[in-house]
Amino acid sequence: MTRPAHRLSRLADYPLAILTARVQQLIAQGIPVIRLDIGSPDMPPAPTVIKALAEQSARPDMHGYAGYRGTPAVRRAFAGYYQRRFGVTVNADSEVLPLLGSKEGIVNLCLAYLDAGDVALVPDIGYPSYSLGAQLAGADIHWLPVREDTGYLPDLDAIPADILHRAKMLWLNYPNNPTGATVDLAFYERAVAFCREHDILLASDNPYCDVTFDSYRAPSVLQVAGALDCVVEFNSLSKTFNMAGWRVGAAIGNREALKHLLTVKSNMDSGHFFPIYAASTVALETTTQNWLDERNAIYQRRRDALVAALPEIGLAGQCPRGSLYVWGRVTDGRTGAAYCAAALDGAQVALVPGDAYGPGGVQYVRFSIGMDDVRFDEAIARLKAWWAKGG
Ligand SMILES: Cc1ncc(COP(=O)(O)O)c(C=O)c1O
Repeated sequence: MTRPAHRLSRLADYPLAILTARVQQLIAQGIPVIRLDIGSPDMPPAPTVIKALAEQSARPDMHGYAGYRGTPAVRRAFAGYYQRRFGVTVNADSEVLPLLGSKEGIVNLCLAYLDAGDVALVPDIGYPSYSLGAQLAGADIHWLPVREDTGYLPDLDAIPADILHRAKMLWLNYPNNPTGATVDLAFYERAVAFCREHDILLASDNPYCDVTFDSYRAPSVLQVAGALDCVVEFNSLSKTFNMAGWRVGAAIGNREALKHLLTVKSNMDSGHFFPIYAASTVALETTTQNWLDERNAIYQRRRDALVAALPEIGLAGQCPRGSLYVWGRVTDGRTGAAYCAAALDGAQVALVPGDAYGPGGVQYVRFSIGMDDVRFDEAIARLKAWWAKGG
């Protein structure tokens, strides 16, 4: 068998895939693991969305290729959503590009913009696809330290001049996976000014903008005046509308950047299934704030229960105002990886070690709150009992 390409050696296996394999091994042995490692909503989309998929897929004329750029209706639905939700006006034809989930667009944007020798500015705790995309493109990563005491915000002014000179992309993600950190519009204003000054493409990943708590409303970087000059924002139906398995997202922003993204993308995939675009249009256009609020209240109860339990399970952490996660710092000096291994063995609860999100996460673990109430509460009880016996 011939050897695979050298570029594969630059890619570790997707960090969560390694953990998943280990958990599945235990489950196959009959061990009743509760999986708080998966960042997937545990609830379905609104019934109208499911009905639209069923109805549209029953039509005989809905089964051909739907095109590389999604349907005009779904592009308009994303644009309408940005108008209503953020007061941001974008052109549905040139400033919106539907994606097969935002992950696809994140990696393909890296392929569109990064060559060997280029630098991607990536927070040292963050969603793995930002660095994996840069590695796949053969570019260098400059890790931006993000720390608990500064709200997990990068200090853009601390980036060395020689790095800035080679930097082509900056990745931001608030509400953040995995830390739950959030920002206000003033932070985005500084980031846009910085990227304009240094001719850097600002890639803002915003899939949790509607998974928020305590009346917090997450902004979009596109609300900043002039952002369309240098920004691509990724959004997704996965978390906002409980549609993670449907694989629908969008890139919204600078038209030139979306054209380059489409050049890569149209050589990789041939679009989605018409009924999925149609049902996504329904989700974007008809899901009410009330539906989102009721769903978020369920997450918020779980968040509160877990944050209250952190001191009783050897962790410290802040109360996140958004995202699907609670981020805990291990307080007894162990690494997050050691804590997770012990929790899996001792409590049969699967968590993600913080170093899966970058070098800044070594002392941390991530919990997902996307688990039904009964098993979620059972997981907390198991962890408390395990920790009381010595962890
Ligand atoms: C920060 C962040 N970006 C992107 C994604 C990918 O989402 P999608 O399902 O749209 O590909 C995730 C998924 O967990 C995420 O947490």
